[in-house]
Amino acid sequence: MTSAASRDIDWDKLRTAARDAMSRAYAPYSGYPVGVAALVDDGRTITGCNVENASYGLGLCAECGLVSELHNSGGGRLTHFTCVDRDGDILVPCGRCRQLLHEFGGPELLLETPEGILSLSEMLPQAFGRDHLNK
Ligand code: THU
Repeated sequence: MTSAASRDIDWDKLRTAARDAMSRAYAPYSGYPVGVAALVDDGRTITGCNVENASYGLGLCAECGLVSELHNSGGGRLTHFTCVDRDGDILVPCGRCRQLLHEFGGPELLLETPEGILSLSEMLPQAFGRDHLNK
């Protein structure tokens, strides 16, 4: 389902899962809980929330939890992704997390953004990836 991944999935349902994860975030330092949710190519839905730390720089973005959950629940490829802020509104993933998503979804991963459904190649052009290591 990679290159042919449909944009026509239930984004409302995926966003609800992200909001649910956001409600479990640990963000006492920023006061900015984030939740993410993604579909996997076998139909699983996985989620993540940010987990901060008293040593501020060690905080984990919600996407870190998501990719850990991806592997801890069987691996696979991400096909669709959404991210929400503390108000439950659609949020763009930070730059570092776009790279995390690229590793497990590739350039064709579809993201819900404030400007509509976009591919990761549009959000992270000319991405560095594992193919570069093999050249
Ligand atoms: N954050 C995420 O969890 N994901 C993002 O893509 C953007 C930022 C978190 C990190 C930090 O805990 C809080 O939002 C404020 O930056």
